[in-house]
Amino acid sequence: MIIIRKVAELLDFVELQKEQGNAVGLVPTMGALHAGHLSLVERAVKENLCVIASVFVNPTQFNNPTDLATYPRKEEDDFKMLAEAGVSAVFAPSVEEMYPGGPDAQPRHEFELGTAAEVMEGRFRPGHFQGVAQVVSLLFRLCSPTRAYFGEKDFQQIAVIRNMIETEGIDVEIVACPIKRADDGLALSSRNALLSEEQRAVAPEIHKALEYSVVYSREHSVGATHDTVVERIDAVPFMRVEYFEIVDARTLLPVEEWDESPWIVGCITVYCGDVRLIDNVTYKKEI
Ligand code: PAF
Repeated sequence: MIIIRKVAELLDFVELQKEQGNAVGLVPTMGALHAGHLSLVERAVKENLCVIASVFVNPTQFNNPTDLATYPRKEEDDFKMLAEAGVSAVFAPSVEEMYPGGPDAQPRHEFELGTAAEVMEGRFRPGHFQGVAQVVSLLFRLCSPTRAYFGEKDFQQIAVIRNMIETEGIDVEIVACPIKRADDGLALSSRNALLSEEQRAVAPEIHKALEYSVVYSREHSVGATHDTVVERIDAVPFMRVEYFEIVDARTLLPVEEWDESPWIVGCITVYCGDVRLIDNVTYKKEI
C-alpha cells in the first residue's frame, strides 16, 4: 500500500490505474477506523482491482468546533489496518492540500442537494451536508472512482450523496453497505471511542429500542411507535434523543401512516453524554 499526501501524486496514481484499465474503488473515511470501515474496504477489494481509501477529517462538515477538535485521530493504526485489508493506496492529505485557499475560502460552491439535505441532520447540523458534498465531490474528481463505498449507518448521507452526483453530473456507482454492530448491538462508529465506560455500557439501548419498535409497529401507529422509542431512550441514564424521525427512505420526509410508502426507515440521533450517536432501523422494505 502506498501512502499519498499530495493531490498531484494522487492524480498520477489514478491516471496509471486508468491506463491499465483497472476499476477503482474509493472508500472515503475520516479515519479512526473500525470494523465498519473495514467491511466497506473488504467489499471494495472484492469488486475493484485498485482500492483507494481516504483518511481526512474534513473541517467543512463540522458545525461544532469542539466536535472537530475532539474527533478521534489514529493515523498510524488506520494505515496498518488498511494495508492489511488489501488497500492499494491511502490518500491522507493535509487541510491545506485539500483546500489551498483555506477551508472557509469564499465564494463556496453551493451544491443542490434537495430536501433530503434539509431534514434531520440537515436541520440540526446546518452546513454539514454542504461540507460533505464539498469533500466527497472533490474526492470523486481526484480519484475518478468506478464505485464508492458508504456505510448505511449514515443513511441520510448516502441519499444526499446520490442527489449530489446527479446534480453535479458525476459518473460513479454508489455502493451502500450494511451497518456493522458490536456484539451488544451498538452501531460501530469512530465516536464510540469517546464514550466513558458507563456510557458505553448503556449505548446499546439505542439499537434495542429501535429493534423493539419494529415489533411494536406491527400493532401501533407511526406516532405511537415514534413516542415509544423516544420515551424508552430518554429514560436511560446519560441519554437524550436529539431527533427520531420515521421517514420515507427515498425522500426522507416523515410518514404518518405505515401504508404511505413501500420503504420506511426510522433515523435517530442520540446524545450519550456529549457524544452524538446515530443509528437507523428499517420498518418496511417492499421494493
Ligand atoms: O462518513 C464519513 O466518514 C464522512 O462524512 C465522509 C463521507 C468520509 C466525508 O468526509
